[in-house]
Amino acid sequence: MNCLEVIPGVVILESDGDKRLASRSLDAQPVYGERILDGYRFWDPFRSKLGALLLKASRTLPVLSRDAKVLYLGAATGTTVSHVSDIVKDGLVYAVEFSHRSMRDLIRLSERRGNIVPILADASRPEEYAFFVEPVDWVYQDIAQRNQAEIATSNCARYLKPGGDLILMLKTRSVDVNASPQAVLQAEIKNLQGLDLGPIQDLLPFHQDHWAILAKKPR
Ligand SMILES: C[S@@+](CC[C@H](N)C(=O)[O-])C[C@H]1O[C@@H](n2cnc3c(N)ncnc32)[C@H](O)[C@@H]1O
Repeated sequence: MNCLEVIPGVVILESDGDKRLASRSLDAQPVYGERILDGYRFWDPFRSKLGALLLKASRTLPVLSRDAKVLYLGAATGTTVSHVSDIVKDGLVYAVEFSHRSMRDLIRLSERRGNIVPILADASRPEEYAFFVEPVDWVYQDIAQRNQAEIATSNCARYLKPGGDLILMLKTRSVDVNASPQAVLQAEIKNLQGLDLGPIQDLLPFHQDHWAILAKKPR
C-alpha cells in the first residue's frame, strides 16, 4: 500500500488502483461509522464535499496550518467538521449550524474534540455570532440555500483575515432548479464580492451539480 501525504494530516492510501482518503485522527472514536486504521480515519468523499475536493484536486486547496482557525458554515452533524478538526488539531473550528437536531450531535462531537466550537445560528446573519468568532484563516461553506454567494460574501467581509481563503461548495440546484448549472455557477461567481477568484472544481462523480469555488481575500 502506498501512502501519500496530500496536506499536513491528510493522506491518500493507494492499493491496487484503489484510492482512499484518510485524516490523522485527533480522537480514537469514529464519528460517522468510518474505519480507523493506525490512527487514520477514512474520509468518505461521497459524504463530504471537502473529501471529494481533496481526492480530485488536493493541489488547488490553499494551505491550512495545524493551528489555523476555520469558520465552517453548514456544519450539520459534523461529518466534515470532524475531519477539519483533525487537520487544524492545534487550531479551532467555529461550526455554524441552524438545525437544532443537528446541533445536538455537533455538541456531543465538540465534547470529545476540544477544537470545535458549535454555534447555533443562521449563517445569513453573521452579526449574530460576532461575540464568539475571531478573524479566521478559512471560511468553508456548505449550505444549500438560494443566496449561497451572498452568505459567503457577508461572512468573509466580517470574519476572513486579509490573505485568508474561502472554500465555497456551491449547490447550483439550490440557487435555481430551472436554470442550467453553468449559468448558475457564473452568476454566483459574479456575486462573490470583495474576493479574488481562484480555481473552480466540479465534484463529480461524488456530488452531482456541485462545484468547489476557491477565492482569496486581498491583503
Ligand atoms: C449539505 S448539509 C452540510 C453537510 C456538512 N457540511 C458535511 O459535509 O458534513 C447543509 C447544512 O447546512 C445547514 N444550513 C442551511 N442553511 C443554513 C443557514 N442559513 N445557517 C446555518 N446552517 C444552515 C443545514 O441545516 C444542513 O445541516
